[in-house]
Amino acid sequence: MNNREVTNSDISKNSPTAEPTTKGELPHGRPEKTQFNDGLDYPRIGNLSFRRGTLTANQEKIWNDNWDAYGKVLSDEVIDVEEWFGRTGPTIVEIGCGTGTSTVAMAPEEPDHNIIAVELYKPGLAKLLSAAVRGGVTNIRMVRGDGVEVLQRMIEPESLDGVRLFFPDPWPKARHHKRRILQSGTLRLISSRLKPGGVFHAATDHAGYAEWIEELRGVEPTLEPIAWPWPESPMLLDRPTTKFEARGLRMDHSIHEFVWRKKEA
Ligand SMILES: C[S@@+](CC[C@H](N)C(=O)[O-])C[C@H]1O[C@@H](n2cnc3c(N)ncnc32)[C@H](O)[C@@H]1O
Repeated sequence: MNNREVTNSDISKNSPTAEPTTKGELPHGRPEKTQFNDGLDYPRIGNLSFRRGTLTANQEKIWNDNWDAYGKVLSDEVIDVEEWFGRTGPTIVEIGCGTGTSTVAMAPEEPDHNIIAVELYKPGLAKLLSAAVRGGVTNIRMVRGDGVEVLQRMIEPESLDGVRLFFPDPWPKARHHKRRILQSGTLRLISSRLKPGGVFHAATDHAGYAEWIEELRGVEPTLEPIAWPWPESPMLLDRPTTKFEARGLRMDHSIHEFVWRKKEA
């Protein structure tokens, strides 16, 4: 009989409830939230459990083979864009990229730009990662985590040429408006991460959210609206139709676009 003492490592290997040590996992428990204490509003994260989902066997393989090169999980590491992309270049953060339909379609159209896609939902990132790897799109990287925390903790102030926010969850009920990602504090944070002249581009198919965004602009004096079309834009503004946009269009929703530039100091 083997009398060797059972170690914690044996338990974690053998227990049927042991968590697999897969790459790109968010830490368990309630996510750590920055206390901004600046008198502005920040989104209250709702229940995210519905965002679980499984990857196909192919996605799982691509994820395991490529996540280390393409992805990071939210942390306190300020991203060194030059090191991560292996070059300098205009940098864009897309928050809530979903399955990355627009991300992977737009990135080849702006080959000199470095695109950082931020999303909580792993199957969405897995779809984007698969499309980027299969399509040989090399100017996309991804961060898994809450977009507000990623901007605050991982993005250097005044370093971005653009921030994109396409079809954020509208949280239509009034009692859920505090969950909307765009709040006065989020807008201040986005502006603080943009270089002077940098662009914030948002789109929604929800009329109530569009009004909400329009009102928010009034509280952020560092951003000014830009008339469309804008040929001198430092980033691509033409979007392909995303999955959520297509759904909105099928329901006869109008699409509202917002393009705001950070004022020169
Ligand atoms: C309605 S979907 C839109 C996805 C995509 N932009 C599109 O147009 O198809 C909103 C996405 O934002 C993501 N999301 C919600 N809150 C987020 C947050 N705080 N940080 C990062 N992503 C978030 C959701 O997981 C979801 O994939």
